[in-house]
Amino acid sequence: MRITEHSRLKDFNTFGIDAHADCIVEWSSVQELQAILPELDRPILPIGQGSNLLFMNDFHGTILKSAIQSVDILHKSDDHVLVRAGSGVIWDDFVSLAVMKGWWGVENLTAIPGQVGAAAVQNIGAYGVEAKDVIETVQTVCLADGSTRDFNVSECGYAYRQSIFKKELNHQYAVSHVIFDLGLKPAPKLGYGALEQEVMRLGEPTLNNISSAVRNIRDSKLPDPAILGNAGSFFMNPVIPSSQYESLKSKYPDIPSYTAGNDMVKVPAGWLIDHAGWKGRALGPAAVYERQALVLVNTGGATGQDIKALADAIIADVREKYSITLSTEVNYI
Ligand code: EPU
Repeated sequence: MRITEHSRLKDFNTFGIDAHADCIVEWSSVQELQAILPELDRPILPIGQGSNLLFMNDFHGTILKSAIQSVDILHKSDDHVLVRAGSGVIWDDFVSLAVMKGWWGVENLTAIPGQVGAAAVQNIGAYGVEAKDVIETVQTVCLADGSTRDFNVSECGYAYRQSIFKKELNHQYAVSHVIFDLGLKPAPKLGYGALEQEVMRLGEPTLNNISSAVRNIRDSKLPDPAILGNAGSFFMNPVIPSSQYESLKSKYPDIPSYTAGNDMVKVPAGWLIDHAGWKGRALGPAAVYERQALVLVNTGGATGQDIKALADAIIADVREKYSITLSTEVNYI
């Protein structure tokens, strides 16, 4: 366990916001967390790699960061493997391990920043796959009393970038481990966008080629947070009624869409922001990334307020132009 008082948060959030926290506790086991919990100053904020949050101010309380690094096979059958990963495992390392071992299910989620625990909280998704598709159980520690609680996937309230851990139980549980149900038989999912084309360019749809294809596509349009502070998609793709989409389409014939069921349509926020003229624009040290309008970047020394000011300006403009109110995927702290 590592405890750091009055700690800089710059290296604990991928936006590179230079705020401070009263205390950061990096915990390495459930027992360790249970032992220290009663002594921690509240509020307590569990974080992963800080790849989906924006610090608006200094944080007066305790930040909990998991350092649980284990990966264990719990059960193996002819066509499935149940794998338990510690919440502190870097998500992309877990994906690389799965690809190397021949475990199918997470290859489309290659190169997403963050840790295993946060992936389960955020229900990360890309190229037609979401974390919930492969999660079996989320194992947690209750921050109120230290008790452990396992949530079966059906109890996690999963939806697009949403879970019970972000809503009803927000900041009430720290994830210790996630159990994944992965496949041992080839099951490529290539239906999304340009993925199939990029895989075919590399060869057969093997785990390796799919993972490399996703990495290539992401590298071509998403900034590396180690070089340019960002939190991936800043906004969620809005889901609107089909009727509203039809009237937008008559005005903007090239507006893309994905079906969302129930007579609803998902529209790419990146397209709306781009076509509203925001791509590459800056407001002080906060800017819209020039290759993907869904991503806001810190061009140097931005505060949480700077980033939010840009986000608010975009939300207001998109609302005025398209009558759609964007919601953020990034969580303001
Ligand atoms: N588009 C534009 N201009 C832009 C960006 C996008 O016109 O600046 C258009 C594209 O041409 C395309 C459509 O918008 O027709 C969708 O773009 P893209 O395929 O890049 O995906 P996205 O909807 O922008 C979502 C996820 C990403 C995920 C990709 C691939 C959300 C909020 N974002 O982005 O997730 O990697 O699909 O599956 O759902 C993340 O959550 O941090 C993230 C990067």
